[in-house]
Amino acid sequence: MLAFYDQDESEFYGLCVADLLRSRPGMRRVHEFGAGSGHAMIDVIRRVGFRGMMHGFELDERSATSARELIARSGLAGRYQVCHGDFFADLDPGDDRECVVANPPYLPLLDDRPGFPHLSGGHSGSTISKRILSAGFGTVLLMISSYADPCSVLEHARDRGYVLTGWMVLPLKMGEFTRRPAVLRRINAMALAGTAFVAGDKYLLAGGVWDRAAEGSHDQSALLSHVMSSFGTDEADGVPGVIAAPEAG
Ligand SMILES: C[S@@+](CC[C@H](N)C(=O)[O-])C[C@H]1O[C@@H](n2cnc3c(N)ncnc32)[C@H](O)[C@@H]1O
Repeated sequence: MLAFYDQDESEFYGLCVADLLRSRPGMRRVHEFGAGSGHAMIDVIRRVGFRGMMHGFELDERSATSARELIARSGLAGRYQVCHGDFFADLDPGDDRECVVANPPYLPLLDDRPGFPHLSGGHSGSTISKRILSAGFGTVLLMISSYADPCSVLEHARDRGYVLTGWMVLPLKMGEFTRRPAVLRRINAMALAGTAFVAGDKYLLAGGVWDRAAEGSHDQSALLSHVMSSFGTDEADGVPGVIAAPEAG
C-alpha cells in the first residue's frame, strides 16, 4: 500500500495535534498510532517546536520505511521515531502511557479480509478507535468520523472513565477509499440504522481530546455526539467549516 496521506484529513489531524501540544507544553512523551507517511507529525513537530519525543507505530512496512526516511531527511530523528509494527502488540507494557494521538482506520467494512486491511475499522468503523481508548493512556487525541458510529465511540470513552475536554470538527469530502462501493454500501446501511451521519458525499471528522476524569472536569461528549448525529439533518444546514468546542470552564 502507498503510505497514507490525505491532504485535508491529515492536515486537520495535524492541526488538532498541534493545538493539543501547544496547550500542554509540558508534554514530553507522546505515542502515535499509525504514522502513515509521517508527513502529518513532521509538520506538527516543526510548527509547534515540540521538544519531547514522539513514538510512532506503523503496521504497513512500506509506510514505516518511507516515514523513517522522511524523518531522517527532515533532521527530526531526535524528536520522532517510527517503529514498524502493530501498536497494540508492540507497545511496551512498562512504557509511560501519558498521551496517544491517532488518526485511526475508520472505514466501515463487512469484509473481514478487505483489500485495504490497514484502513479498515471493522464492521462499524469504530473497532480500532475503541481499542485505542481501552489502551490505558492518560490523554487520548483521536479523530472520529460521523460515518463510523461516532456516538458509540463517545460512549465507549465515557465507559472507560474519560471525559471529553476539547474537540474540533471539520466537514470533509469523502476520499478515494471511502468512495469504494463496499464502503459506501456499508455507510448507507449504517445511515439507515442511525449509526452513520453523512450529507451527500460529505461527512464530519472530529478531533477529540479525552482526559481521565478528574474533579471539576466537564465532559463535552453529549454536545459532540449531538453535533455528529445532526449532520445530514435539517438542523445541520448551517455547518460552515471548522467548529471548535467552547472552552471548558
Ligand atoms: C488513516 S491512516 C493515518 C495516517 C497518518 N496518521 C495521517 O493522518 O496521515 C491510519 C494508519 O494506521 C496504520 N495502522 C493500522 N492499524 C495499525 C496498527 N494496529 N498499528 C500501527 N499502525 C496501524 C495504517 O497502516 C495507516 O497508515
